Amino acid sequence: MNKFKVPEYNLPADFIFGAATSSYQIEGAWDKDGKGESIWDRFCHQKGNVLNGETGDEACNHYNRFKDDIALMKELNLDSYRFSISWPRIFPEGHGEVNQAGLDFYKELVDELVKAGIEPAVTLYHWDLPQALQEKGGWENKETGDYFVEYAELMFKELGDKVNRWITHNEPWVVSFLGNYFGEHAPGKTDLAIAIKIAHNLLLSHGKTVKKFRELNIAGEIGLTLDLHAIYPASKTAQDIEAAQLADSFSNRWFLEPIFKGRYPKRLLNKYQNNFALPEIASGDMELINQEIDFLGINYYTRHVIRAEEISDDLFNYRQEKMIGNPHTEMGWEVYPDGLYDVLVQIKEEYTAKPLYITENGRASDDKLDEYNRINDKDRIDYYASHLKAIERAVKSGVPVAGYYAWSLMDNFEWAWGYSRRFGLIYVDFATQERFFKDSARWYKEVITQT
Ligand code: BGC
Repeated sequence: MNKFKVPEYNLPADFIFGAATSSYQIEGAWDKDGKGESIWDRFCHQKGNVLNGETGDEACNHYNRFKDDIALMKELNLDSYRFSISWPRIFPEGHGEVNQAGLDFYKELVDELVKAGIEPAVTLYHWDLPQALQEKGGWENKETGDYFVEYAELMFKELGDKVNRWITHNEPWVVSFLGNYFGEHAPGKTDLAIAIKIAHNLLLSHGKTVKKFRELNIAGEIGLTLDLHAIYPASKTAQDIEAAQLADSFSNRWFLEPIFKGRYPKRLLNKYQNNFALPEIASGDMELINQEIDFLGINYYTRHVIRAEEISDDLFNYRQEKMIGNPHTEMGWEVYPDGLYDVLVQIKEEYTAKPLYITENGRASDDKLDEYNRINDKDRIDYYASHLKAIERAVKSGVPVAGYYAWSLMDNFEWAWGYSRRFGLIYVDFATQERFFKDSARWYKEVITQT
């Protein structure tokens, strides 16, 4: 591998460098060895939901290539690998009978990681709900949360001796609102009341799972991952400031407040109430959600600059300002590393002194393989470099950031965007399944080795 000159990072000695993926985005083998159908299998197989009709049927075929992929991770010197478990691979019907082949796959994966000296970090839910449970109401149905705990318990018992870091949910905002209010993700609904109900049920299932983890006395740490955006008003006017606060409550605090303070943000709760879209909060729910967690996972990609919109009497009467000046990624997201610093400081000041892990951070780029099989992705190197600098600054300001997972280990199925958006450190030729290290991978390896 080429040697890259990398910046010096002043980070804690035990800082963890990793990379992340999720089951549906990389595994493929969607109907192999007894796996049940997930809501993403169903969603992708319905026309019009995903760009170019693409699906995760094959994805990176990681299910069959995981040993080679772990060899690549080892070559990158990763300390840790964050992946998710496909619930319907374990419980094809969502609960009840276990699919042994599915369980064996994850056992082997974990064994292989441990053998390679790479710490596994496991996400229990990265969006691929068993379709069988969707038929019974999915996350709208509280029982789904109980089945989730059943599934989590099995995983704790089967993998708990080798897995040290557990993440219950990945980005519950995306699951509830993108999937059920904006309709862009599975199951593709557009009903605010349903989205709010689901957000509550997801939070509850998180709380119940943490409680179970403690009861079972599983060694290791448990937390969850939120997608947090840095949010700023577009101007100093009272309207823009208020709109930014609303946006912040909608995308960040709706989850942060229940988790860390056992309550929903009041003003937004009132707004929802006026629109007949309140969560059904049973007695004891908020205490259950407000379980002590061992760390918070943060996925950070960009900031949102918010401008109030006068015309609309819509619930969310604001829009996101298009920023000029800074680079934007292939997703159209502004590159804004200072936002990561701001988010980290805010979490420490307002919510928790527990360790924070950046569980995802990265960018989509228009990567091209050149005639020497090289991918010059300097824009991605710049992205990682500047965000790691923001983390270094946060650490210097006293924020306990304990680790960083690049999103993503390799190019993969980018949800509604199919394969058109490449986020990987590793380039995947989807026609042949060949993998190639991008320059950013070589750079990241150097950072890990030297830091
Ligand atoms: C998700 C990933 C996704 C990434 C880039 C996050 O919202 O957890 O699954 O690929 O962002 O869009």
